[in-house]
Amino acid sequence: MRKVGIVGLGKYLPKKILTNADLEKMVETSDEWITTRTGIKQRRLVSSKEATSDLAIKAAKKALTEANLDAAQLDLIIVATITPDMQFPSTACLVQSAIGAKRAVCFDVAAACSGFVYAICVAQQFIARGTYENALVIGAEVLSTITDWKDRSTCVLFGDGAGAAVLAPVKSGGIMSAYLGSDGCSADLLMVPAGGSRNPTSRTTLKKRLHYIKMEGNELFKVAVKSMTEAAHTAIKKAGLELSDIDLFIPHQANMRIILAVAKRLELPLDKVFANIEKYGNMSSASTAVALCEAVKEGRVKKGDNILLDTFGSGLVWGACVIKW
Ligand code: ACO
Repeated sequence: MRKVGIVGLGKYLPKKILTNADLEKMVETSDEWITTRTGIKQRRLVSSKEATSDLAIKAAKKALTEANLDAAQLDLIIVATITPDMQFPSTACLVQSAIGAKRAVCFDVAAACSGFVYAICVAQQFIARGTYENALVIGAEVLSTITDWKDRSTCVLFGDGAGAAVLAPVKSGGIMSAYLGSDGCSADLLMVPAGGSRNPTSRTTLKKRLHYIKMEGNELFKVAVKSMTEAAHTAIKKAGLELSDIDLFIPHQANMRIILAVAKRLELPLDKVFANIEKYGNMSSASTAVALCEAVKEGRVKKGDNILLDTFGSGLVWGACVIKW
């Protein structure tokens, strides 16, 4: 099996900023509540002309430039998203067309907030076994289109954005281990109930606002902390490392209190924890992708460092991955 690493990263965040002060004018909430309960100060929102693929394409082009790879040479494109441009075709195919990746195999992965880590694991398998030479993995979301802007318990949490990574064989380091987990028995804790084959769009579903995110935040909070802690332990063990070997922890950015609770259980000092939730809120699959990109660009990751990606989301699905940079 070949070693597989990340050889290029890119991100794109839409220009429009929605602050907590803006939200105070939309629902009964306060900057104080949002900041203390979630750590979020602002989030980015698309314009009416932008869809998920537009964000994905911009992030992808930056990652390809950094990897010094022509799109025409790409073998595989995976887009992790729960907000595709359309039910079909896949957003990955739309990205393929826009960037001219003529020979790439393209598909989407629906693993909510864990999508980027899931897609990295899938791409890694193809490259490690020699099926493909490279892959473009993108986490891209326009959650603002499935957010109920009248529901204060959810609308303060989410934002739009995209992050991309190019994967290829590397001589040393790279992805050291990955661990994924799922529990469909708790699917009802976080979902968009209508718009699929179970509840096709109708006047009733629209009236009941069933095309928006419904979430049992309290219950999810507990499961997120437990699952992310376990996933981190398992991935580190599989990599043959100790917790003290981890140089930077890059968790899913759903809630600052979840991030801090997991870091505490892992006994990781705060200078080893990366967080950008304050700027972007929860961007589902794009959160870990953008966080990884920013951590590297900000110089928080040096060559030889062991980084730990750790995610949790609707499904329920969770996963962690150790990468030697
Ligand atoms: N502003 C003011 N008050 C609010 C707001 C708001 N925006 N939202 C809720 N409240 C109120 C509630 O009504 C409640 O009031 P009450 O006590 O009078 O009934 C009170 O604040 C406390 O509400 P809780 O829901 O208990 O608040 P909590 O501290 O649990 O925070 C939150 C809620 C932020 C949603 C938290 O539970 C959370 O982050 N959960 C995890 C989310 C997650 O991890 N999701 C998975 C990934 S996302 C994905 O896959 C797409």
